[in-house]
Parts: sequence; structure tokens; C-alpha cells
Amino acid sequence: MKITNSVNRLGSEAVYTIFAKTQKLIKQGKKIIDLSLGQSDFKSPQHVVDAAIKALKDGHHGYTLPNGLIECRESVSRKIKSLYKVNISPERIIIMPGGKPTMYYAISFFGEHGSEIIYPDPGFPIYESMINFTGAKAVSYDLTENKDFLINPDKILSLINEKTRLLILNNPHNPTGSFTEKKVIDKLVEGLKKFTNLAILSDEVYDRLIFDNREIPTLLNYPELYDRLIILNGWSKTYAMTGWRLGWSVWPEKLIEHVFKFCVNSHSCVNTPAQYGAIAALDGPENHLKDMMKEFDIRRKLIVDGLRNLKGVECSLPGGSFFVFPNIKKTGMNGAEFTEKCLNEAGVAMIPGTAFGKYATHNVRFNFATSRENISTAIEKIDKILK
Ligand SMILES: Cc1ncc(COP(=O)(O)O)c(C=O)c1O
Repeated sequence: MKITNSVNRLGSEAVYTIFAKTQKLIKQGKKIIDLSLGQSDFKSPQHVVDAAIKALKDGHHGYTLPNGLIECRESVSRKIKSLYKVNISPERIIIMPGGKPTMYYAISFFGEHGSEIIYPDPGFPIYESMINFTGAKAVSYDLTENKDFLINPDKILSLINEKTRLLILNNPHNPTGSFTEKKVIDKLVEGLKKFTNLAILSDEVYDRLIFDNREIPTLLNYPELYDRLIILNGWSKTYAMTGWRLGWSVWPEKLIEHVFKFCVNSHSCVNTPAQYGAIAALDGPENHLKDMMKEFDIRRKLIVDGLRNLKGVECSLPGGSFFVFPNIKKTGMNGAEFTEKCLNEAGVAMIPGTAFGKYATHNVRFNFATSRENISTAIEKIDKILK
């Protein structure tokens, strides 16, 4: 049996390796505080669960169109209008089984041998994995050069050449929690105007998880990019719906027929009752989001203060998402060693920075979407082993 080279080039997510290790330790009777996962401890809102159950009871058991229920696409369009004051036709919206397939499709559309794709490092590991899969050259921009992991528009623009087909942006950012302000995005977009053949994938899956009353400078605010802009978003993070596998994306008109074919060739359509839940999430009340963000803000400060008090640990305050990405260089360990020690000796699971690329050798990622008690205990336990 011989599988293709492209399949051999696929990467993975270290979170699953850590998860397996954590589970093994738990089975051995060890108590582990797991701050490694990419999801929150909140449950999906009850009205969303009820809408999906009702859809099942009402007999919505069949396929939908591959691009999603028109009612669901209309509800995304309405939400975009109410949040960002722009009109996006439901025809340009695709309902996806999660945020990831948008990444998979977009990178497949532009990556091939001889082409280049630019992406953030550290960054969501699937960007690089999928670029490698397609055979394109993966060209990264280093976010560790700035202490708050902010993008440098000039640096990004300097990486673009005639082979570059796609630029990937992610704001707010996983794994660093950084949030890029509008003036920086304005500058980048201004520079991108010169490169009219370059497509842009803007991963905005954390768009509603932003602190300090700030708002995302979504790329949807730049209509001049619409003929080459792909927006990745979804329900996973905003509505605590990671297991529902629901995402939405906005595509340039001329790509829609190709995306449609990808959907037909892969998943046919997204789970129908889940799409009814998705509509309820977008059209319903948002109290849960307000409550969740209020709680995340408390936890954010709790974990950052705790980390800053640890010997040898430096930590910037995340502006969005539910991740914090401290630098642990002054402990004398690298991220992988620190992660291993914390798991084995303190019973605290996290992810080393190198799981997100090659640059963040001395960082680790904590998920703070867990109870305050978990956070405080984790910090106490790490403190003990660093003394
Ligand atoms: C930056 C980023 N993009 C996309 C995704 C994928 O989201 P989903 O679980 O909806 O596929 C994640 C999930 O962790 C993420 O962190």
C-alpha cells in the first residue's frame, strides 16, 4: 500500500498528544488540571439546544443544500449587518461543519507546488499543515518579534512576491491572545491594495471574544477587498458550540461555485438540526455571551497576575480569545521542558509554544476558559515546582 506524499506531509495538533498524555495520567490516578484545550467550560445556550431538539422533533432529518439552509445563511447575513453594518448577500455565505473546513478549502484553492502562502507563526497549526499538504511553500511571519505578539504590516508586505497566492490573518489570535487594532489593519490593507492577485483568508473565529470594550476591525469593513477576501468564522467559540461542528464563511462571488463543489465532494451538508440551533444562536438573546465575557475577563486578570508572580515567567495581557501565552525563558527551561515538568510534577496541562510553529520556543499556551478555582490551584502548583 502506498499513500500519497501529500498525505504524508499533513501535520496535526499537539493538543491531541497532550490530551492523550493527560488522560493516561488521570487513568493512573493522578489529578490533572487541564489548561490545554481550545474550548471553554461554558455550555451552549439553552435556547440553542432547544431549537436543535425542536428541529429533530419537527422532522428536519434530511439533507440541506450543500452551502447551508437559506434561513441559516440569511441569519448570518443579518448578524453581519447588525454587528458590522455591511451587507453580505446570503449567496456569498457558506455554512460549514466548523471553522476548520474554511481553512482547508481556502488553502486548497490557492496552494500548489510553486506557489507560496503567508501565515502567522506562532499560529493555529492547521495553517502550516494544510499549506504543506498542498505542496505550496509555507512562508511565516514571526509574531514573537513584538512582545505583545502584534503583527507588523511592513514585514508581512515585504514577504509578498509574484508566487504568493494567499495571506492568512488571525485576529484575535490563537495561541497568543493578541488583538490587532484597526489602525494596524488599515495600514496592512492599504499596502495590500498593490497586490491585486493576492487572496486573503481572515480567520475571525474569536471576533466576539474581545476585552476592554474593543471591537474587531473585521476585514469585512474593507469592501475594496471583497473580490479576494475569505472570512472564516463560526459558532464554536462565541456560543460555546465546539462539538456542534458549525462554522460560516464569506467568499468572493467568483469562488462560490468551487466552494459549493468542495462541499458536495466532502460533507454534502452540515447537520440539519444543528443549523436550526445555529439560527437560534444568531437571532436569539446574547446574555450568555455577556456573562461569559464578564467571567473570562475576571479569569484573564487572575491568570495573568498569577503568572506574572511566578519566578522567571513574563506575561502580556491578552486582548482577545481565552488564551494566554507567557514567556518562561527566565526559568531556564524551554517551553517543551516547562510543559513536561508542569504536567508531571504539578499536574497542570498546557501546550508548548512550539506546537504552534518554530519561533515560540520559550512560550507556553494556557487556556483560561476554566474555573477560577482551577486557575488559582494551577498557579499555586506551578509556583511550588519553580521554587
Ligand atoms: C484560530 C482558530 N481558527 C479556527 C479554529 C477552528 O474552529 P472550529 O472548532 O470551529 O473548527 C480554531 C479552533 O480552535 C482556532 O483557534
